[in-house]
Amino acid sequence: MCIERDITIGVCRLIQGDARAVLPALDLQADLCVTDPPYALSSGGSRPGAMGGKFSSDVYDNSGLLMDVVGWHEIGGPIYRALKPDADCYVMSDDSNLFSAHGGFIGAGFKFHALLVWDKIVPNRTRYYMKDSEFTLYLWKGRAVDIRHGGSKRVVRLARPDGAVHPTQKPVELMQLYIENSSLPGQLVLDPFMGSGTTLVAAIQAGRRVIGIEKSPKHFEAACARVRAAVSGEIQNMEHVI
Ligand SMILES: C[S@@+](CC[C@H](N)C(=O)[O-])C[C@H]1O[C@@H](n2cnc3c(N)ncnc32)[C@H](O)[C@@H]1O
Repeated sequence: MCIERDITIGVCRLIQGDARAVLPALDLQADLCVTDPPYALSSGGSRPGAMGGKFSSDVYDNSGLLMDVVGWHEIGGPIYRALKPDADCYVMSDDSNLFSAHGGFIGAGFKFHALLVWDKIVPNRTRYYMKDSEFTLYLWKGRAVDIRHGGSKRVVRLARPDGAVHPTQKPVELMQLYIENSSLPGQLVLDPFMGSGTTLVAAIQAGRRVIGIEKSPKHFEAACARVRAAVSGEIQNMEHVI
């Protein structure tokens, strides 16, 4: 059975399993996908020596991988089929994975609207220009629908989350911007690679329903804890778009 755990908390359904197998089994028609898939990360050319943060020895084993990765060509198709006929899809990536990500999702049938940028304000140190940004492919399936806040900028400046429980945790407010722009209250949002559940927390705060999938038991537990706190009103969105 590809679904290892299946938990409902408020408007959220959290599934532990491999998204490549779980998505076809669910037979979904979600209104929107907002996701941050696992991809190979490098240290960005930092000088050798003690590494901190997400490259510290307790989370990074020097294999070049911070987490299990999946091929972009393996996930575009299952996500495309899990969406209703007209739907937007936001896919996050760093710069070195951007072209493969674009190829995988366009190859699956999505069309490309724009490249969005998250300016992290405080960069990671590197020898080859400071790493201060990450990227989001803003895509659509079927008929293109206008975003709800037409004045939204492509570059969003947001500090990294305080007290992150996942090595690549994203700001809630970034996911919430995408959700509010491309879905309506009560609609169903999908994140097949939910990590610590940031998209789910954002969907709760935006008044949407949401399904998240995560393979790692450790990150699945972290997502359940954050979602429980958000549903009970304990997590407030403390991050601000600058
Ligand atoms: C980049 S992280 C997502 C982080 C998330 N946006 C957050 O803010 O916490 C990608 C996640 O995908 C998970 N993952 C890797 N392979 C997977 C698979 N085949 N199916 C589902 N999840 C997978 C990893 O364990 C990781 O937690």
